[in-house]
Amino acid sequence: MNSVREVLRLDRVGKRYPMGDTIVDALVDASFTLNEGEAVAILGPSGSGKSTLMHLLGFLDSPTSGEVIFEGRPVAALTERQRARIRAEKIGFVFQAFNLLPRLSVRANVALPLAYNSAPPADAEARVDRALELVGMTHRAHHKPGELSGGQRQRVAIARALVNEPRILLADEPTGNLDTKTAAAILDLFQELNRLGRTIIVVTHSPEIAARFKRQIHVLDGRVTEGSA
Ligand SMILES: Nc1ncnc2c1ncn2[C@@H]1O[C@H](COP(=O)(O)OP(=O)(O)OP(=O)(O)O)[C@@H](O)[C@H]1O
Ligand SMILES: [Mg+2]
Repeated sequence: MNSVREVLRLDRVGKRYPMGDTIVDALVDASFTLNEGEAVAILGPSGSGKSTLMHLLGFLDSPTSGEVIFEGRPVAALTERQRARIRAEKIGFVFQAFNLLPRLSVRANVALPLAYNSAPPADAEARVDRALELVGMTHRAHHKPGELSGGQRQRVAIARALVNEPRILLADEPTGNLDTKTAAAILDLFQELNRLGRTIIVVTHSPEIAARFKRQIHVLDGRVTEGSA
């Protein structure tokens, strides 16, 4: 049987930050399901809660209310070790702030996720080469992040997210600092990965980019709605 497989589900998820005397409701009552093979764009103004949502989807953060469910299992019920394992093996994350390690070379940064695998792949070196080539960063493999431009750092962060060939790719404004041509190439790459069955969730400010995805989720003042770009 060819049934739709649920990858991630949010059930009335909220994220509340205490800020001195006040509180910030960064996410309010968010409920939706992501199925295997979906390509989703997340849209919304600055401060609306997009990164908060992405962190919860990658279980880098816990909700203050509601539940995040990964492949049918509530994430809250997993141990930190189990969470780390799933994150390492199944999820690729492109952070808005890149999060590259400054002391490591570009090559070592891209190779990092492979080290978290329970069994490091035999073709690790080739995978790093391939990922660097995909984003056009082979010529800077031995540089440190501090020696790169913003767009180049972003491309290295994308290579790192892809090196494990994750089932799920979460990318927070992955092309925000890139020129139109490089951004288009990265998006073509994401769409190719999606055609190969990967689940892809991308935050973008651009309605043109969002329109290239089959599904759009809008975030406004912490509230999530579905709709076309
Ligand atoms: N650690 C935190 N502590 C307190 N408030 C936070 C924290 N992180 C985010 N917020 C607040 O939560 C809200 C949502 O932030 P978030 O980073 O999710 O926005 P965003 O949609 O990703 O914005 P941008 O497009 O600028 O990246 C904002 O009002 C922000 O100030
Ligand atoms: Mg953000």
